[in-house]
Amino acid sequence: MLRSFSVLLAYVAIAGAWSTFVVPHTENADDTPALMAAVSSYASDASIVFEAGTTYNVWSPIKFPHFTNVEVVISGNISYPASIKTVQGYVAASDYPGAWFAFTGGKNVTLRGNTDPNWGWVDGHGQQWWDAKQQTNRPHGWKFESITNGVIRDMKIYKPIAWNFATSKSDNVHIFSNTILASSDSSSFPFNTDGFSAGGTNMLFENNHVVNGDDCLTVASGAKNVTWTSGYCEGSHGLSVGSLGEGGSVASVEDILFEDTVMNHTLYAARFKSWTGGNGAAVNITWRGIKFIDVMFPIYVTQNYWDQSDGPRPTSSSTDETHVENFLFENFTGVINDTPGYVEGSCITDPCWYYVSGATGKEVVILDLYPGTATGIVAKDLSASTLSGAPIAAMCNSSVISTDVGFKCWDGAYIPT
Ligand SMILES: *[C@@H]1O[C@H](CO)[C@@H](O)[C@H](O)[C@H]1NC(C)=O
Ligand SMILES: *[C@@H]1O[C@H](CO)[C@@H](O)[C@H](O)[C@H]1NC(C)=O
Ligand SMILES: *[C@@H]1O[C@H](CO)[C@@H](O)[C@H](O)[C@H]1NC(C)=O
Ligand SMILES: *[C@@H]1O[C@H](CO)[C@@H](O)[C@H](O)[C@H]1NC(C)=O
Ligand SMILES: *[C@@H]1O[C@H](CO)[C@@H](O)[C@H](O)[C@H]1NC(C)=O
Ligand SMILES: *[C@@H]1O[C@H](CO)[C@@H](O)[C@H](O)[C@H]1NC(C)=O
Ligand SMILES: *[C@@H]1O[C@H](CO)[C@@H](O)[C@H](O)[C@H]1NC(C)=O
Repeated sequence: MLRSFSVLLAYVAIAGAWSTFVVPHTENADDTPALMAAVSSYASDASIVFEAGTTYNVWSPIKFPHFTNVEVVISGNISYPASIKTVQGYVAASDYPGAWFAFTGGKNVTLRGNTDPNWGWVDGHGQQWWDAKQQTNRPHGWKFESITNGVIRDMKIYKPIAWNFATSKSDNVHIFSNTILASSDSSSFPFNTDGFSAGGTNMLFENNHVVNGDDCLTVASGAKNVTWTSGYCEGSHGLSVGSLGEGGSVASVEDILFEDTVMNHTLYAARFKSWTGGNGAAVNITWRGIKFIDVMFPIYVTQNYWDQSDGPRPTSSSTDETHVENFLFENFTGVINDTPGYVEGSCITDPCWYYVSGATGKEVVILDLYPGTATGIVAKDLSASTLSGAPIAAMCNSSVISTDVGFKCWDGAYIPT
């Protein structure tokens, strides 16, 4: 009687205990197997710590188990394999978990970096991939998937090979104070180094610093209630929604806010794109308080996206499109890069993939809409100049949208209404 009581007490104590696992490190060896062997014992009420003072070799992908109340702390440095072929081999393998660091779901999961500037860096050795123009079997970085109540904070990524964080199917995630540095030291462009892909619901992105060569943040279909605030994006392809509706798929994006962000030497600042012949709807999306520095296309909306390398725009037989409703672009201030002959680094074709027929390069806003599927699109309080000193312009087809878009809807000078 007494004995079984104390057994019960001991059980309660263990169930309620928090445990900490310090990931072991071996010089010149892959540190993933030892972590994988132990991690199932730390799948709840635990901290898994890559400790400061150590540079870990994550030479094969990590697939975390389903977690409950778990914190993964990257206090030490982490290095991907230096060999391109090694990485490609794992990405091509049938048991590849979809990202080099794959979370597979759970509740109350935190991924935390280190605020010490010398530690907590995850080094992808991306430069050699960019220099070799190697795009076969590139890994995604961090898949933070199917997590309810999550945090990603203070993470620091150095020269990732390609895509960084993705939050698909997660709910209620706070993503703040992260740094991604994907800038190239050579003339080679860091292709597809997207910062954050926000699939999922109820996400708050704050104070993230991204230098890269693709979207800073991209909001994907299924996203609802996503806010991005107080950010810095350099060299990127903008704060984007889409591409939506590829191959006629039904897209759904709702209640998205991008605000108070500096866009420095980016190709786009605010961008929406849905594929020609798409379906579904993107509703209630606001971009506001955007400061842009030498940006080619500050505001660009297209419902007619297609892959230009596949030839001319397809004549869509679909009478539908991904509908766009209630988009607001407000309080944009900055300078348009209209330098003659300038091409952004991702342009490797002639014309460039981002070429807009008829554009002068001085447009602060381009609305390329599809008849009968766009309502409530407004761009106002735009204050811009061009590097050349030429007056700013707009592109808009008034036979496609009849409501006031905030400026004179024509291909010509930008005239606020
Ligand atoms: C959630 O996890 C954190 C550690 O990441 C822990 O401190 C906290 O107690 C957990 N919250 C709940 C409600 O269990
Ligand atoms: C950690 O990695 C970063 C990026 O590679 C590097 O700059 C830093 O020196 C490393 N820290 C230490 C203490 O080696
Ligand atoms: C939107 O998401 C934020 C951040 O996760 C959350 O605090 C807020 O309650 C959500 N709003 C609604 C209406 O669900
Ligand atoms: C539009 O989205 C914002 C969040 O970005 C939200 O606060 C607001 O309530 C939404 N408006 C409507 C009409 O749903
Ligand atoms: C913009 O980026 C350039 C490098 O491309 C940098 O020198 C400059 O300081 C940045 N400006 C701001 C305001 O961050
Ligand atoms: C316009 O945006 C800037 C940030 O770029 C912000 O500081 C300022 O308060 C905003 N102005 C208004 C009137 O909202
Ligand atoms: C404007 O849209 C109409 C209707 O789709 C189209 O016929 C016309 O060619 C467009 N004009 C321009 C200049 O693109």
